[in-house]
Amino acid sequence: MKVPFVDFRPQYHEIKDEIDVGLKDVFENGSFILGPAEKDFEAQFASYCEAKYGVGVNSGTDALHLALRALGVGPGDEVILPTFTFIATALAVSYAGATPVFIDIESDIYNIDPTKLESLITKKTKAIIPVHLYGQPANMDEILQIAKKHNIKVVEDCAQAHGALYKGKKIGSLGDIGCFSFYPTKGLGGFGDGGFIATNNEDLYQKVLMLRDYGRQGRYEHLIKGYNSRLDTVQAVVLAAKLKRFDKWNVMRVDCFKNYKEQLKEIGDVVVPITRDDRTHTYQTFAVRVKNRDDVCTKMQEKGIGVLIHYPIPIHLQKAYEELGHKKGDFVVSEEICSEILSLPMFPHMQQDQVDYVCANLKEIIRGR
Ligand SMILES: Cc1ncc(COP(=O)(O)O)c(C=O)c1O
Repeated sequence: MKVPFVDFRPQYHEIKDEIDVGLKDVFENGSFILGPAEKDFEAQFASYCEAKYGVGVNSGTDALHLALRALGVGPGDEVILPTFTFIATALAVSYAGATPVFIDIESDIYNIDPTKLESLITKKTKAIIPVHLYGQPANMDEILQIAKKHNIKVVEDCAQAHGALYKGKKIGSLGDIGCFSFYPTKGLGGFGDGGFIATNNEDLYQKVLMLRDYGRQGRYEHLIKGYNSRLDTVQAVVLAAKLKRFDKWNVMRVDCFKNYKEQLKEIGDVVVPITRDDRTHTYQTFAVRVKNRDDVCTKMQEKGIGVLIHYPIPIHLQKAYEELGHKKGDFVVSEEICSEILSLPMFPHMQQDQVDYVCANLKEIIRGR
């Protein structure tokens, strides 16, 4: 048996008829860039995020970059973000010309440890980027309270947690601006790259609209040096069809998680993720912790199981950021998690026998060593 890390086909089969009609419409009308279907999707996803405004852009990385630009973050500024995240979170800060300042995470939910936040704030700190990693919201109350006290903006990195709730509210509209990725493997993923910015602030909304479209007002009047970063109408058709089924698919992911949890509890030495009581977890990524992770990873792959590591190296130890002068031991929690974390297959339509196969092999590998 082979179990892929993610299988997109069942989702495609569910939406095929609907997107065939929607895509035909786009192709017949030639409304490829910012067509009506894109505008409709912006309204639908903003509403889904409980935000007043939404803007489609061409990736999650661009969403973060444009959000920072809209907030006026630039050279000389500092932005605080977890070192344990995908590198795009830091790259967006660099693209804006600002300096990333790393913070360690909590060892149980893998998100920013708010107790470490205030000591990192300087006169240059302009923004904080909490990342809702794997599908579970960060400690937003504490982060927002500290940000307010120091007059710092909060940019939520929601790339991995579409639809997650924090104290009953959707992530993405808790801070000043929320940034999403629609990369295919994300909870809500397109058939290519895509991203989204949600906000309740009209001024930020207007700025982002301009930034994503060459900084223009009207057709050939350019007020600022913007970018070409729009969500393709073709992707919007796919995403709108998926959005209609998205809550159902998230429930299927949670069921899949429960199934995993039940089977994995018998094996000592496998740390299954916990979810705090005041929030939900969408399990976009199902990451467990195991000792001798690299060995377990190789053996699982040999058994035909698609496992991945999110992430093996924290950003402060990446060559791309060597100019910041960090060394091993600077963020011990993140470094330890990087050495133990292992993502197992997870997708809404995962079958019982697939979960059984992954668990049986993980048990055998861990017990047999
Ligand atoms: C936490 C996080 N932030 C940002 C991004 C960037 O998104 P994209 O790949 O759409 O540019 C990703 C996705 O890869 C991510 O996982």
